[in-house]
Amino acid sequence: MSNNVSLDQLNSDLARLEKEAEQDISNLSDAESLERLRIHLLGKKGRLSKILGSMAGLSKSERPVVGQRANLLKTQIQDLLKIRLKELKEKNLNELIEKERIDVTAPSIGMPFGHRHPLITTSEEIVDLFCGLGYEVNEGPEIENDYYNFAALNIPQDHPARDMQDTFYLENNLLLRTHTSPVQIRCLEKNSPPIRIVAPGRVFRRDAVDATHSPVFHQVEVLAIDEGLDFSHLRGTVMAFLKAFFGDLPVRFRASYFPFTEPSAEVDVQWRGKWLEVMGCGMVDPSVLEGLDLDPERWSGFAAGVGVERFCMVKHGIDDIRRFYTSDLRFLDQF
Ligand code: DAH
Repeated sequence: MSNNVSLDQLNSDLARLEKEAEQDISNLSDAESLERLRIHLLGKKGRLSKILGSMAGLSKSERPVVGQRANLLKTQIQDLLKIRLKELKEKNLNELIEKERIDVTAPSIGMPFGHRHPLITTSEEIVDLFCGLGYEVNEGPEIENDYYNFAALNIPQDHPARDMQDTFYLENNLLLRTHTSPVQIRCLEKNSPPIRIVAPGRVFRRDAVDATHSPVFHQVEVLAIDEGLDFSHLRGTVMAFLKAFFGDLPVRFRASYFPFTEPSAEVDVQWRGKWLEVMGCGMVDPSVLEGLDLDPERWSGFAAGVGVERFCMVKHGIDDIRRFYTSDLRFLDQF
């Protein structure tokens, strides 16, 4: 700008700046453009500085008059900017509140919580019932050797259970346990009677799959060794257990054979209009006790192996064992 600007000219420049600044400030829509406008109006190279820079042509008496007016205008613009900034912040906040408004009365979408598998629940229910009778929980490995799975349980070399068709054999004389009964041996090796244990776990057999058979299934093993235990204790315990689990359901004790118990029985319950075997049991065979250096004249006991899948099927009216392993949520969600 030229140095020889007249007082009138400067006054009208200031007046125009005042008017335009007011207009621009009220037109602002956000805080960022406000800062840009402030620099444009009041910055070092801004419009007000330019007007002040052209005061050189004024007389000594005129300069303070313009200077004062310019200063007033500067304060005025600063105040307007401050007010506008506050307004914009409020506007922003209100918009944000509106945008993020939460309708606390809206119905919940619901969280899809998972829950335990019915087989686990059933197994724990069985274990809990025996714990209530003073039994302790015990567990053994799923990979076993011939001794614990067969030999120590008095299962002879030529017994069909040892057949390749029934047992999954692994390398180095190892196998997948075909029942939870080896836990009996492991426990008796480590503890002296009296003992009462309950041992849940997975077992494996080369069974053809059908509605009641699966190559992997679950058992709960029960073992009680003490002085003076006889078949009435076994029957009383099993009947009390079945009643607690199933309520009043028709039950059948059927004489059976297991190499590690004598006498032995199988328990059937009613399922879909027919008898279904759900557990084996018996008095621990004296030769099993002798093999563990326990005197069968002094110690006796009973044992049982409970089929978890079948217990669950009977209790909940499930028609096919395969439903447990297909992970169909329409089935699982019912439990
Ligand atoms: N281990 C047997 C099986 O899997 C079930 C069984 C029968 C377990 C009699 C026992 C028992 O403890 O006494 O077929």
